[in-house]
Amino acid sequence: MSELIILDEVTSTNDYLRENASKLPSGSAVTALVQTAGRGRRGHLWNSDGGALPLSILLKNPPEPSVVPLCAGVAVCGAISALSDNCPFVGIKWPNDIIIDSRKVCGILCESARIGDDLCVICGIGVNISQERDLFEKAGLPDAGSLRTLIGITPERNALARDIVRRLLDIKSFSEVYEEYKGRCVNIGREVRLIYNKEERTAFAEDITESGALLCRDKSGHFEVNSGEVSVRGLFGYI
Ligand code: BTN
Repeated sequence: MSELIILDEVTSTNDYLRENASKLPSGSAVTALVQTAGRGRRGHLWNSDGGALPLSILLKNPPEPSVVPLCAGVAVCGAISALSDNCPFVGIKWPNDIIIDSRKVCGILCESARIGDDLCVICGIGVNISQERDLFEKAGLPDAGSLRTLIGITPERNALARDIVRRLLDIKSFSEVYEEYKGRCVNIGREVRLIYNKEERTAFAEDITESGALLCRDKSGHFEVNSGEVSVRGLFGYI
């Protein structure tokens, strides 16, 4: 594993890796104390002024680019679970929100870019470390939580970052972590709302396919949902 690059402030750790990808080896990772123009999925902002851990990992020509976000979810769950022998169950809301006690404690945004001859996947991970509950409420994020409020631990940021990177780089294929992913996926066996760009559909989430799609069924039969095209919620709330 390359050295973790630690910055005081950055616009977005994903942008930092994209701008520097041509001179960095695959497996490079960067974190920053402050992130001023961080991005979340579906155009959300994801800034941090020190209460969170923004982390990005550069993967050049990964063999299975489409499942990197799911593998990253497993890596984050492992790193959080290892913080304490008494850590509560760390789940994954498909495809890659990390959940403790029905609250989102980490989000993942993977972006791809062709840089020179390489297909680069930049895996951006934002872990909520120490924010208090009222901060999320004021920010309009009632379903979010931090490690401090959810498990009573405020981990050392860079140690947690290094453990996440090590775990992600150790995963060689999705099949290796497929059973663990399914065991952690909080949607399986539940009714879900599938929210597309303009329409919404209710279905029963049955399983995860070997390629990482959410296998659902409704009265018209079985169908697969791919990440990127949809956001998933529970029938009556976040999960
Ligand atoms: C989400 O849940 O919407 C995904 C959030 C991803 C945030 C991380 S923080 C590190 C990296 N840099 C960014 O600009 N975004 C990701």
